[in-house]
Amino acid sequence: MSRRPPTDPRCAHPAEADGATGLTRERKGRRWSLADIPYERIHRPAIAADRDWFYLIAASSFVEILSDLYAANLVTYYAGDAPVCAWLSRTWEPEELQHGAALRRYVETVWPDFDWERGFAGFRADYAPYCQTALLGPTRALEMAARCVVETGTSSFYAMVRGASPEPVLATIAGHIRDDEVGHYKGFYRFYRAYREIEGVARWRVAREVWRRVVEVDQEDAYLAVKNVSQVHEPGRVFDRAQFTRFRARVRLWMRASYPFPTAVKMLLRPIDPPRPLERLGVPLAIRCARWLV
Ligand SMILES: [Fe+2]
Ligand SMILES: [Fe+2]
Repeated sequence: MSRRPPTDPRCAHPAEADGATGLTRERKGRRWSLADIPYERIHRPAIAADRDWFYLIAASSFVEILSDLYAANLVTYYAGDAPVCAWLSRTWEPEELQHGAALRRYVETVWPDFDWERGFAGFRADYAPYCQTALLGPTRALEMAARCVVETGTSSFYAMVRGASPEPVLATIAGHIRDDEVGHYKGFYRFYRAYREIEGVARWRVAREVWRRVVEVDQEDAYLAVKNVSQVHEPGRVFDRAQFTRFRARVRLWMRASYPFPTAVKMLLRPIDPPRPLERLGVPLAIRCARWLV
């Protein structure tokens, strides 16, 4: 996979070195690595025969490892803001790639017959056309709000995996990834607040963007990732939208028990910053709606 050097040249314009946000705070170092994961202690009988878990974890590894593309788009979009670009290149992208690497190794340990490279090549070819800078948010503040939605989705997803996993090493990996995703949310939220000040973006526009991303989240990339897992694992089997819908319905059973609905709703509302009385009434209602939708 192509990787950029740690300091992206697009971020290095000297006249814009301070960036629009003027933020420089970064988390130093990585808190975990693949060396911390006890792959040799995986209890294969607990998970190896479960096709849904295989599809879910293999597809997740594809989506995570494609983060070099997502990062390149974001760095282009925020060109000139050195702190944002530096955080994306030095913190966000390496952590996302590590998520993919950790999950890939798990997949290749538990399901060694799966041709991961071929599946990922198919996913990359299918999904790359959907991954364009032109499709990012209408303003920098609104794109940061949208990134908060994405990180809410990923942190909640891995919290669910941690809680629902039938295999302890997978739960450990999911716990590490979940913590990173929460850190990503905080990073994007910090930049969002700075851009909100700069742009003076109206609350209703933030709410509209958050809702738009909630509806869109995990749609095309998840479908194409699972489809490519299926095409490599079971070449003769048709995998279409109907199959995907049934797969998601089964995953939702795990979500009902282990998805952190209250935390997810609070994270989604934070960029909107609703008035306190509205928040007090709205949060419990939104949690009930989310549970009902799942
Ligand atoms: Fe991730
Ligand atoms: Fe993330």
